[in-house]
Amino acid sequence: MKKTVVTFANAKQNGEKLTMLTAYDYSTAKLIDAAGVDSILVGDSLGNVILGYEDTISVTMEDMIHHGAAVARGAKEALVVIDMPFMSYQTSVYDAVVNAGRLMKEGRAGAVKLEGGVEVAPQIKAITAAGIPVVAHIGLTPQSINCFGGFKVQGKTEDAAKKLLEDAYAVQEAGAFAVVLECVPAKLAKLVTEKLDIPTIGIGAGADCDGQVLVYADMLGMFSDFTPKFVKRFAETGNIMLEAFKKYNEEVKAGTYPKAEHTYAIDDDVIEKLY
Ligand code: KIV
Repeated sequence: MKKTVVTFANAKQNGEKLTMLTAYDYSTAKLIDAAGVDSILVGDSLGNVILGYEDTISVTMEDMIHHGAAVARGAKEALVVIDMPFMSYQTSVYDAVVNAGRLMKEGRAGAVKLEGGVEVAPQIKAITAAGIPVVAHIGLTPQSINCFGGFKVQGKTEDAAKKLLEDAYAVQEAGAFAVVLECVPAKLAKLVTEKLDIPTIGIGAGADCDGQVLVYADMLGMFSDFTPKFVKRFAETGNIMLEAFKKYNEEVKAGTYPKAEHTYAIDDDVIEKLY
């Protein structure tokens, strides 16, 4: 059965954990969906993981629509959430609604995600009023990396912790149906989770969040440019891929692949007439 915002609300109410993984293409989405993961996030982390940028700033609406639509075709049950890229919603409430609408219509999202707290509450309110479910994202918000001065844990001082709680209340009040907490101390994430009615989805925020999200290439050991402390590698797929690519390279060069069983036959008569 297709997972929806109701799945998220019920999970919070029943104390059941929610699962979310990123994907950026059809084949990966199909596998994640088949594994029973509740939600697939087409994160703007595609800028790092797929496009090779050093941050998410250059990711465009067209990138998100292109990859989002591919994921949506592969996800039969998981709720597909597509990230709103940098400057697609910060500029105005109008831009936010128009661009969220494009992610739904052209990307076939089930919901959109955007970064920020109090300052983007008007955008969240307007997008949800337009009938589009919103996941908020607070704590370390990578689109603001130039203001943070790097990938740093957020909410560690009293003022910063208060601000995080304010942001959490603001996005809930504005209508977000879930909120991602990124790189937040575990005890603070626990407190936010207890205070909110909507589910918290943690990444680097400890075990007490209502759910967890990871970048799929990180948890598969496929992305080695940078591995944050919170990532657990559930497989070493990167090494398996590297070995397979090496083997392919060797076998083709040695003439041991392809073999007869990998080739298509034709009657000798037909070939002889061509000589
Ligand atoms: O873009 C992304 O992958 C994200 C997750 C890290 C939550 O926003």
